[in-house]
Amino acid sequence: MSDLSVKICGVNFNNPLIAASGTFGFGREFSEFYPLEKIGGISCKGITLKERFGNLPPRIAETEGGILNAVGLQNPGVDHFIEYDLPWLKEQNTVIIANIAGNTVEDYCAMAEKLSDTDIDFVELNISCPNVKSGGVQFGTSCESVGNITAEVKKYCKKPLMVKLSPNVTDIAEIAKSAEFNGADVISMINTLTGMRIDINSKRPIIRNNTGGMSGPAVFPVAVRMVWQVYNAVNIPIIGMGGISKWQDAVEMLMAGASALQIGTVLFNDPYAPVKINDGLEKFMEDNKISSISQLTGSVIPWE
Ligand SMILES: Cc1cc2nc3c(=O)[nH]c(=O)nc-3n(C[C@H](O)[C@H](O)[C@H](O)COP(=O)(O)O)c2cc1C
Repeated sequence: MSDLSVKICGVNFNNPLIAASGTFGFGREFSEFYPLEKIGGISCKGITLKERFGNLPPRIAETEGGILNAVGLQNPGVDHFIEYDLPWLKEQNTVIIANIAGNTVEDYCAMAEKLSDTDIDFVELNISCPNVKSGGVQFGTSCESVGNITAEVKKYCKKPLMVKLSPNVTDIAEIAKSAEFNGADVISMINTLTGMRIDINSKRPIIRNNTGGMSGPAVFPVAVRMVWQVYNAVNIPIIGMGGISKWQDAVEMLMAGASALQIGTVLFNDPYAPVKINDGLEKFMEDNKISSISQLTGSVIPWE
């Protein structure tokens, strides 16, 4: 029998399939399809210190092999999450990851401090947000600012800290090393790739925000490449995501270096995707006599 459970920072996941932030809400809608204990964990919709109404529509555009989104972090705020969503989530018998976002380092620290006194399992730092004190440059785009925000949040965070990398950078391995050096316990990657579509009749960008984040199967090879590069650069576990839509992708991402996986955009086509991917992965492992997920992690044999 193959064992699909994984342990990361002492936290046990029933299986390596985790719902990706922003594609699963706070889980309630999906619990109508299957018991949430069927998935390894849930990374909740990104929360901010105060509630946010998000961007004006259109916020999502379909693209070939993916979607472009600029939702703008619509969410009810951290206090509402703790009071209203978390008690329900904790009854679901799955790992709970609180994904946090902000526009100042102080916002992130305040949320990490509040969440440290709750029953969540991990804090996931979404650093693909503009830092208003640095002229709107995203936190995730330089080693210095990634190191700084990681070190500051770490001072307030009593939960394992997962830093979610942006792919919109020149050297992802250097960014990952900076997160690790400054206290990240886990790396999750990748967030969306910045993209744009234009309506040729109106000449207007399709997304009201002009640009948006690209996700879905089209980004998968980029995500695999980046996970592999980071696996070769750091010693902390990686949770891999970006375009995973079938069990073969899951195997590939694990081979590139991931210890667990997040599943996002495919959920919009098929809410059962994580359950199906898990079943396919289990069969692959049994057929190939692989007894644990860790045997797959980083097992790619690169050409010389
Ligand atoms: C509609 C939508 C909303 C998202 N919201 C968030 C968010 O709030 N926080 C975050 O860290 N990532 C967010 N993401 C990024 C995903 O968690 C994930 O990193 C990305 O979509 C790549 O994985 P995928 O191709 O499997 O979707 C969002 C993605 C989509 C499509």
